[in-house]
Amino acid sequence: MDCGEVVPLELSAGSDEIKFDTFAALAAQLDALFALGLKFDDIKDKITQLLLRVNVLTTETNKYTFFDCEKPYTRNLICSDGKHYSLLLLCWGPGKETKIHNHPCDGCFIKNISGCIKETRYSFDKAADEIKQCCSKYYCEGQVSFMSDDIGLHKISNPNPNVGAVTLHLYTPPFKECKVWSNEGKGQFSKPEKGVIGYYSVCGLRTPHLEGKPGLFARMQQELLEKHGEKVESAAAL
Ligand SMILES: [Fe+2]
Repeated sequence: MDCGEVVPLELSAGSDEIKFDTFAALAAQLDALFALGLKFDDIKDKITQLLLRVNVLTTETNKYTFFDCEKPYTRNLICSDGKHYSLLLLCWGPGKETKIHNHPCDGCFIKNISGCIKETRYSFDKAADEIKQCCSKYYCEGQVSFMSDDIGLHKISNPNPNVGAVTLHLYTPPFKECKVWSNEGKGQFSKPEKGVIGYYSVCGLRTPHLEGKPGLFARMQQELLEKHGEKVESAAAL
């Protein structure tokens, strides 16, 4: 089974194309791309190229960055057009990982924003009812990866036991549920659990079922902007 491609960092390093320093700028390009109505295979490389052009400062990522030491990672919705794509920032606790999971969509793109991320990929054999590890890769800051059910299953982890990591995820189209597995091996493929896609925060604000309070960085930003009589743009973006 093909283990898929990783786009090397050097592809983005020498590009003369304008970088996206806000997620809103990236979303505008994605809106225009999906408005063309093309098949996924015809825009997959373009999406990768757009993600390679993302070059955001921590002042931008902090709007959506929520770490929670009681969770392995948090999923923070940046924006979505509700039909073609959703953009999320995932914040990984030190040494934490997901379960093995699938992607019921055309695909999932990941751009590493900060820290190091390890991806472990698995092949599956429906007939033999078996999930087998096939390879693992490490992604440094700036690299973009792609995953889909055609390639296999995977889990993501932050291998650093002391430092958190932040990754940008693009799912196309958005989905609400996936399948998760706790183990690899024989007799496992037929035993998935349901994974429900929840959001720890939306547009920089903690979601109502999880306290409903603005997060630390969003709250700080809101206080600063209100002090200067400006609107909180991030909260109105969705
Ligand atoms: Fe995934």
